[in-house]
Amino acid sequence: MSAVTPAPGTGTAPVPASPGHRPDSQLGELRLSGVSRAYGAHIALQPLDLTIRGGEFVALLGPSGCGKTTALNCLAGLLPLTTGEITLDGRRIDTLPPEKRGFGMVFQNYALFPHLTVRANVAFGLKMRGIGKSEIRRRVDDVLQLVRLTEHAHKHPGQLSGGQQQRVAIARAIVMEPPLVLMDEPLSNLDAALRLEMRSEIRRIHQEFGLTTLYVTHDQEEALSLADRLVVLHTGRVSQIGTPAELYERPADPHVAAFMGYRNLLELEVVSADAEGALVEGRGVRLRGTPVAGCTVAAGDRVSVAVRPEDVRTAGPGEECAAEAVAEIVEYHGRQLHVEARTRTGDRIHFKTGDQVRPGDTVALAVRPERALVFRVEAR
Ligand SMILES: Nc1ncnc2c1ncn2[C@@H]1O[C@H](COP(=O)(O)OP(=O)(O)O)[C@@H](O)[C@H]1O
Ligand SMILES: [Mg+2]
Repeated sequence: MSAVTPAPGTGTAPVPASPGHRPDSQLGELRLSGVSRAYGAHIALQPLDLTIRGGEFVALLGPSGCGKTTALNCLAGLLPLTTGEITLDGRRIDTLPPEKRGFGMVFQNYALFPHLTVRANVAFGLKMRGIGKSEIRRRVDDVLQLVRLTEHAHKHPGQLSGGQQQRVAIARAIVMEPPLVLMDEPLSNLDAALRLEMRSEIRRIHQEFGLTTLYVTHDQEEALSLADRLVVLHTGRVSQIGTPAELYERPADPHVAAFMGYRNLLELEVVSADAEGALVEGRGVRLRGTPVAGCTVAAGDRVSVAVRPEDVRTAGPGEECAAEAVAEIVEYHGRQLHVEARTRTGDRIHFKTGDQVRPGDTVALAVRPERALVFRVEAR
């Protein structure tokens, strides 16, 4: 989805949250410049530069402990910055307390009031803001409809499923029409089926309501399916910022590649390199690969080679074979088998095939050069 700018001249009168409606509070641009955070000597978040445009859905993606929650809490005002500044439409906000920033927050554990009904939970923030009863009723009704909870409005959180509770948490955040909604792993407490369902709900709500969203997750599928842009973090540092397609097609480093489904990461050495690509080998593997943009390699360089399971094939007769491996685990997935095989030196290779492969079979594998991404490993 492209960035959405607020319609000019919408005035200050509140407008119901009908499909296509963009809240008046929509931000133009949120900018983080050199935002970092240290806990004592430990730098949890290295200086982060990021601009989020109004209406965008940005996902912050990375493994557990990489600094995602730290970044989100810095943005929300729950943690002071160690360095850097944050501006909202040119106005500095990192010096403001959380309530003055007015961002909506949705957490993993919902954090609902157990003694209040769904309606009262959603109305709570509006009430605190001193908004009139009839307007509260109207806005809560609209938002409950948006998250499809109208018929549950009278219930208490304890009477709801996990997915419904999470929808209440989302309703409570968006009813305030915040300039930015921050979500920290909001689906990780749900079972797999609900997670999928809520993922499309969040996407739908975002499309209908257009709220600018920063969404934290360790799940790359979730990030890829929801976000307009992804920020991949690795040990507190940004590895890459880009659209799902950019990251998928041109991962900047092996960490991003691993997140984008390049399950085969091999540590190899360059035998020779020219304009056509590089011949790499090691540990019983020998193949031609393509250095990623901005990376030049020469004979003797140590490299990481990333290949997706769907790009590894069984070699045809007479075809150059990249590696021989013994199939260990064979999973049936409809028309394809997903195979985990092990090379003579013990390295695992994952591939997908339509051929009949049984555990214990020795298979010759091939990879097209343009499908094997070569990253230079920095010299130690
Ligand atoms: N209050 C704290 N005190 C000290 N270290 C912390 C604190 N909170 C987080 N950390 C450390 O900062 C790093 C990043 O944590 P966090 O932002 O929670 O990661 P994520 O949300 O990506 O899992 C981790 O190494 C974590 O142990
Ligand atoms: Mg976290």
